[in-house]
Amino acid sequence: MRITSIDAYQIYDSRGNPTVETVVTLEDNTRGIGIVPSGASTGQFEALELRDGDLSRFRGNSVFRAIKNVNTEIAGRLRGMDVFDQAGIDGAMVELDGTGNKSRLGANAILSVSMAVANAAAGSRQVPLYQYLSDNEGYLLPLPEIQIIGGGAHANWRTDIQDFLIIATGAQTYGETLEITHNIYHAAGDILKERGKYYGLADEGGYWPEFSTNEAILEFIIEAITQAGYSPGTDVCISLDIAASDLYDGKTYRFNLDNRTFTTDEFVDLITEWCRSYPIISIEDPMADTDWSGWKKICRSAGHKTQIIGDDLFTTNLKRIQQGIDQKAANAVLIKLNQIGTVSETIEAIKFTQKAGWLPVVSARSGETEDAFISHLAVATNAGQLKVGSFARSERMVKWNEVIRIERQLGDRARFPGAKIYDKIFF
Ligand code: PGA
Ligand code: ZN
Repeated sequence: MRITSIDAYQIYDSRGNPTVETVVTLEDNTRGIGIVPSGASTGQFEALELRDGDLSRFRGNSVFRAIKNVNTEIAGRLRGMDVFDQAGIDGAMVELDGTGNKSRLGANAILSVSMAVANAAAGSRQVPLYQYLSDNEGYLLPLPEIQIIGGGAHANWRTDIQDFLIIATGAQTYGETLEITHNIYHAAGDILKERGKYYGLADEGGYWPEFSTNEAILEFIIEAITQAGYSPGTDVCISLDIAASDLYDGKTYRFNLDNRTFTTDEFVDLITEWCRSYPIISIEDPMADTDWSGWKKICRSAGHKTQIIGDDLFTTNLKRIQQGIDQKAANAVLIKLNQIGTVSETIEAIKFTQKAGWLPVVSARSGETEDAFISHLAVATNAGQLKVGSFARSERMVKWNEVIRIERQLGDRARFPGAKIYDKIFF
């Protein structure tokens, strides 16, 4: 089934920033759409998001060059190719780009086409995307990791740590995770309102963080869990995304909220102590993306019972994941399509992670769209976990809701292992 045309244009993400949307059309007239998200606390090793930098338009944020690259060079190369050859198409774009980080054509240009190709192929076969992308027998519904408080780069640095999230470890079904989250999210909102500290929402829909220490937020999450009628540590656990690269100056880690600085060893000790004192089951980017010795130390001190996820550390990049596995620097990998820039490389990163006995966590970005590709990706690859931000705002809810739709379509073929997935990495 040949690709007949490719059309890219500029639309806007959940922060109102320009992004690329591409439509791929096939010879049977099937159309597939790809929409690209965008990060704020991006890792330095990510594939390059091409923005025009022309301050006279969209404050430099327009993506017209990326769009032109799709409509000219990429379209010229891919027209006539077989839409079912996702790997061949993605490989052709990587080759055409010719750089190591997709900086010539732009990872946003390439990814929009890659996603559109996958959607068009699934459409042409008249199967849902999760089924098209899957080479598995069964399907796992993911355990959600859902933000309650948003901070760091997503809340104008009102707090140091980026995400305070919950994982409904006691839930028996996907639906139950969302019911538990609903109850806790709104209990948290009620408490903030009572205290006169309700200041609206941060970028990913979690509450704006009005607290004087990071520990106070941890206590607050426990209070919200309890107030909603759940038991912290059994029904529901805490998860953090420290996004520590943003706190690190190459030598020390810094909390601005309470004016503290830490060496690598001191920061490892602090995080380890938090894992002992609070029901924390998962920590993302506890250390900076250059501080490999810190990563190895935190894994040794907390990795036996805490999921240690590399986001900025790995940037969904096979070579960096391999380095992490060799060094025993983590036990899980955050997976973001636009960090690496093609669907094929993303799926490869997930499979590689699984083969090593680690856990992948499929993730959205802080700048998101009305697209639910990643919900399908999580189910298709049996990733087991999904991180999409909070339980509010439609660019988040569309992803949680899509899993409900997929669950209904799958019927008996859906399985929900929930927190049992952690048996693979805890010892
Ligand atoms: P980002 O944040 O999309 O701004 O990078 C998400 C994350 O750090 O996980
Ligand atoms: Zn992160």
